[in-house]
Amino acid sequence: MSAKKWSPDSWRSKDIRQVPVYPDAAALTAAEARLRGYPPLVFAGEARRLREELAEVAAGKAFLLQGGDCAESFAEFHPDNIRDTFRVLLQMSVVMTFAAACPVVKVGRMAGQFAKPRSADTETIGGVTLPSYRGDSINRMEFTEEARRADPERMVQAYNQSAATLNLLRAFAQGGYADLHQVHRWTLGFVENSPQGERYQDLAERLDEALAFMAACGLTSETAPQLRETEFYTSHESLLLGYEQAMTRVDSTSGDWYDTSAHMLWVGDRTRDPDDAHIEFLRGIGNPVGCKAGPTMDPDSLLRVIEALNPENEAGRLVVITRMGHDQVEAKLPALIRAVEREGRSVVWSCDPMHGNTIKSSNGYKTRPFDNILEEVKRCFAVHRAEGTYLGGVHVELTGQNVTECIGGAQAITEAGLADRYHTHCDPRLNADQSIELSFLLAQMLKEERVQQNGGVRRIATG
Ligand code: PEP
Ligand code: CO
Repeated sequence: MSAKKWSPDSWRSKDIRQVPVYPDAAALTAAEARLRGYPPLVFAGEARRLREELAEVAAGKAFLLQGGDCAESFAEFHPDNIRDTFRVLLQMSVVMTFAAACPVVKVGRMAGQFAKPRSADTETIGGVTLPSYRGDSINRMEFTEEARRADPERMVQAYNQSAATLNLLRAFAQGGYADLHQVHRWTLGFVENSPQGERYQDLAERLDEALAFMAACGLTSETAPQLRETEFYTSHESLLLGYEQAMTRVDSTSGDWYDTSAHMLWVGDRTRDPDDAHIEFLRGIGNPVGCKAGPTMDPDSLLRVIEALNPENEAGRLVVITRMGHDQVEAKLPALIRAVEREGRSVVWSCDPMHGNTIKSSNGYKTRPFDNILEEVKRCFAVHRAEGTYLGGVHVELTGQNVTECIGGAQAITEAGLADRYHTHCDPRLNADQSIELSFLLAQMLKEERVQQNGGVRRIATG
């Protein structure tokens, strides 16, 4: 940790972007005080365990799959939604683990992903100007003065929803639902009959054979808990710092500060200035942290972020999540990689192929062409291979629901088709079918990586 003095509130003396204005300051202070008395959502030991697993990713021995809603919402709070997102992440992970023989570290954008950065502080419709919608933990989406007012009680509701979501995720991960003998049952109705569904069923059958073989050798769900349960971690953007501060506690085991609102926190592309409040907050917590890097991130700024967030150069502490856009990967990524390599910094490189590929459809929807998403992933793998580094993860916005938000994919969602089931509260997400298609591509890329790795051409950053 940096020698510079840090406390959970030291961010308050820094410049800050993307903060809501709360009209009732006393109510905000009172809500934050209540949150400080609430139980932690995660334990420091779990966050440390994720850090160890991310160190394996940094060493090229595992892959990070981070995904979930762009923004969770109070309206869509339902066990089926939680189950379906969990399930599609599990399916993707099985595809990658089985097809590429690569352990997958699963991190949901779930149980806390409620606050959103916006391109403008206000929105004007028909001559009326109101504050922008900033996510359900801050205000409401309807375009009325009352709805757009920042209400601190919403932080408490976000905490409660996160607690209930995490409780169900823990039950799914540890209670038998994630048992590998259940892979067939994870297939979602609408995926079952699609080309991706068949591909998945095919893989599930081969996995069954492998499991039957292992059972004959004495390895069953009873004798090998790894077959019965899985580790599942949570993450969200560390944006609403009053909330994050209230959830930050001293870990009695290590004496260090941990943000107990999630296992992993990341800083967005709009709030990653190393002199500002968001980096100041993240640098003091012991959790693994992430930093988004869009096309405006230059090598020196990245090195300053790394120095602030990971001064001891610990493997697994920092994930750099690049989101350049499919046509900017070759132009922007190599310089960042070279700077990090030159300075001998250990980072996990992850690719967010969503946020640089957002367009407006001719009929007015914010969408993302699935082909461009796949293309950014492919190009990231290629650039890392050329630089001798390892692309260790992806960061995706997805849902287990049968939505029509990203165009393309095996179901060939068209611009006109976007209107059918466009439900997102913020950015367009992959649906289950598109997510599984992406996982097959990732499996193929990882398999090729293995071949390269066995040939001994890749350098692994030490740290
Ligand atoms: C996001 O992850 O939802 C997001 C806003 O990303 P970025 O900070 O990369 O724009
Ligand atoms: Co988003």
